Amino acid sequence: MKYDVIVIGSGPGGYVAAIRCAQLGLRTAIIERYPNLGGTCLNVGCIPSKALLDSTEHYHVAHERFKTHGIDVTGLSVNWPQMVQRKNGVVLENNKGVEFLMKKNKIEVYHGHGSFVSTNMVRVAQNDGTMIDLETDRTIIATGSKPIVPANFNYDKKRVITSTEALNLDKVPGSMLVIGGGVIGLELGSVYARLGTQVTVVEYLDRILPTMDADCSRELQKSLKSLGFQFHMRHAVTAVKPGKNGVKVTAQSRDDESKTLQLDVDYCLVAIGRRPYTDHLGLENIGIALDEKGRIPVNEHLETSVPGIYAIGDVVRGAMLAHKAEEEGVFVAETIVGQKPHIHYNLIPGVVYTWPEVASVGYTEEQLKEAGTPYKSGKFPFRALGRSRASMDLDGMAKVLAHAETDEILGVHLVGARAADLIAEAVALMEFRASAEDAARMSHAHPTYAEAFKEAALAATGNRAIHM
Ligand code: FAD
Ligand code: NAI
Repeated sequence: MKYDVIVIGSGPGGYVAAIRCAQLGLRTAIIERYPNLGGTCLNVGCIPSKALLDSTEHYHVAHERFKTHGIDVTGLSVNWPQMVQRKNGVVLENNKGVEFLMKKNKIEVYHGHGSFVSTNMVRVAQNDGTMIDLETDRTIIATGSKPIVPANFNYDKKRVITSTEALNLDKVPGSMLVIGGGVIGLELGSVYARLGTQVTVVEYLDRILPTMDADCSRELQKSLKSLGFQFHMRHAVTAVKPGKNGVKVTAQSRDDESKTLQLDVDYCLVAIGRRPYTDHLGLENIGIALDEKGRIPVNEHLETSVPGIYAIGDVVRGAMLAHKAEEEGVFVAETIVGQKPHIHYNLIPGVVYTWPEVASVGYTEEQLKEAGTPYKSGKFPFRALGRSRASMDLDGMAKVLAHAETDEILGVHLVGARAADLIAEAVALMEFRASAEDAARMSHAHPTYAEAFKEAALAATGNRAIHM
C-alpha cells in the first residue's frame, strides 16, 4: 500500500493534519494504536475532563446558589456513576465524529502501533496481531504525550493515580492530594472539591499556574480556597506510599527543611507535567535523535532532521495544547503542498477550565518586565459588572497590558465567568495588532462579562474605566 502521507497518531494534531492533507488532494492514511480515534484530548484529556467539570459545576451551583436564586430543591444528591456514564457517552459521540470525518475525507485508518522501518516505510503492528508495511512519501509524527510520574511516587493506578485514572474513579473520594498546582491538578481537583472531596495541593514553586500571569494565579487561588482547596506551596514531595485503602504522602518545606507534612489521603493524583511519547517508534531506524526533554526536534517548517518527516503537537516544542496541535497539523499539510502557512505562537491562548475560568493570551506582566518592554496595565474586577451581580459570578478580573508608547495590546489575562470564550476577542484583536484604545472604543453589549475586557482596556489607556 502506498500513500502520499501517513500520519502516526490520531489526536487533535494527527486527525486534523490528516483531514487537511486529504482536503488538499493527498492520499492519506492514519495509524492509531488505541481502538478509538481522538488521542489524549478526546479520550482521556480535554473532552472527558470538561464533561465532568460541567456536571460538577451544575451540582455545585445547585447546592450553593439555587436557594438564593429562589429555587428550592429537596433531596439534591450526586449520582456519580451517572456522571461518569454521561462523560463516557460524550467521549463516544466524539469518537464516532472523528471516525465519520475519516470516512468522509477518504482517509484510511489502521489500528495498531506504527514504527519506522525506513524513511519511506512505516510498519503497523495491528491490534489483530498481524503486521502490515505501508509505503509513503511523507510522514507526520503526532504521537502526543504521557503523564510524567517519577518512579519513587509508586504509581499503582489504584491509589496513586494520574489524570487518566482520575477521570474514572468508582466513587467520590473523601480526600485527594494533588501533586502539582498546574492545569490538570486544578481542573480535576475542582471536579472533586465541588463534590465534597477534601482536596490538598502540594506545589513545588511559590504559586499555582506558574507559567501564567501572576495576577491570574492569585485570583484563582482565592476562589479555589473558598471552594475548600488547601494549598502547600514551596513543598517538595519526598515519599508517596500507597496502601490498600489510601496513600501516605510526605512533603518537605523548601524554606525550612525541618518542616515536613505527613498527609493520609484516599488518593494521590500526580499532575506534574507530561512527557513527549515516542516509545517504540523506530526513530533510531531513520536517524532522528530526541532533544534533552525527549521531544522530536523540528525546524520552522515543523520538519525533522529527515526531509519529508514532520512532527507536530505534544511531541514537539511549545505548549501542550490541543488547539496548538491542530494549528500545527494544518500548517504541515499546507507546507507539504507548497503553501506558505504561518502560526503566531505567541497568540495561542491558554485556558484553565476551573470556575472561575482563567484565560490568557500574549505576554504576561512578568515577561514584559523581564524583557524590559515599556508597558501600561489596566485591570477591572468582575464584581463591578452588572452581569456578574445578576449571575452571582463575582470572582475574577480582566487585565490588559499594552505597549507604553504604541498602545498595542501585548497581553490579555482574564479570570472570571466564561473567560474561556471571552479570550477569543482578545486573540482576534491582537492578530490585527489592535491598540488598547481600539478595544476601549468598541461597543460591548450590556450586560455581558465581555464588558470587563473593555473596561480593562479603558483602564489601560489613562485610567478611564467607567464603572470603577
Ligand atoms: P495526543 O492527543 O496525545 O494523541 C497522540 C495519539 O497518538 C494517541 O492516540 C496515541 O495512542 C497515538 N500514538 C502514539 N504513538 C503511536 C504509535 N507509535 N503508533 C500509533 N499510534 C500512536 N488541551 C487543551 O487545549 N484544552 C484542554 O482543555 C485540555 N485538557 C486536558 C485535560 C487532560 C486531563 C489532559 C491529560 C490533557 C489536556 N489537554 C488539553 C492537552 C491535550 O490533550 C494535548 O495537548 C493534545 O491531546 C495533544 O494532541 P496530539 O495530537 O499532539 O497528541
Ligand atoms: P503543568 O505543567 O500544567 O503543571 C505542573 C505543575 O506541577 C507546575 O505548577 C509545577 O511547578 C508543579 N510541579 C512539577 N514538579 C513538581 C513536584 N515534584 N512536586 C510538586 N509540584 C511539582 O502540568 P499538568 O497539570 O500535569 O498538565 C500537563 C499539560 O497538559 C499542561 O501543561 C497543559 O499543556 C495540558 N493541559 C491543558 C489543559 C487546558 O488547556 N485546559 C488541561 C489539562 C492539561
